[in-house]
Amino acid sequence: MRMRRADWAFLLAVTAVIVLVSLLPSPRDRNPPIPDSPEHRLVSSEKICSTCHAAGQSRPLTERHPKRQDCLHCHKQTDGG
Ligand code: HEC
Ligand code: HEC
Repeated sequence: MRMRRADWAFLLAVTAVIVLVSLLPSPRDRNPPIPDSPEHRLVSSEKICSTCHAAGQSRPLTERHPKRQDCLHCHKQTDGG
C-alpha cells in the first residue's frame, strides 16, 4: 500500500499531538497532595516513598499512575512549611 499525501499529513498531526501532550506541564496543585498523616510526616526524601507506594507494598500505586520517581515534582507536601 502506498502512502498518500493526506496519510502523511495525518501521521504528522498525530505525532505532533502526542509530543505536545507529553510536554504538558504537570502543576502540583492539580494532583493529590501528600496527606498530612504520621506516615508522611516522617518522610524526609522522595527516595523513601517507594517503601510504601511500590507494587507489593502497603499502598501500591495504580496501574495508570506515572512511572516517574520524582514524586515531589507532582505531589505537594503539606507539612506546613
Ligand atoms: C510509611 C508508609 C508511607 C510512606 C513512606 C509514604 N506514604 Fe504516601 N501514603 C501512605 C498511606 C498509608 C496512604 C493512605 C492513607 C492516607 O491518606 O493518609 C498514603 C497516601 C498518599 C497519597 C494520597 C493518595 C490519595 O488518594 O490522595 C499521596 C499523594 C502519597 N501518599 C504520596 C507519597 C509520597 C510522595 C511519599 C514520599 C515523599 C509517600 N507518600 C511516602 C503510606 C506511605
Ligand atoms: C508526573 C506527575 C506525578 C509524579 C512524578 C508522581 N505522581 Fe503520584 N499522582 C499523580 C497524579 C496526576 C495522580 C492522580 C491519579 C489518579 O487520579 O488516578 C497521582 C496519584 C498518586 C497517589 C494516589 C493513589 C493512586 O495511585 O492514584 C499516590 C499514593 C501517589 N500518586 C504517589 C506517588 C509517589 C510515591 C510518587 C513517586 C514514586 C509519585 N506519586 C509520582 C501524578 C504524579
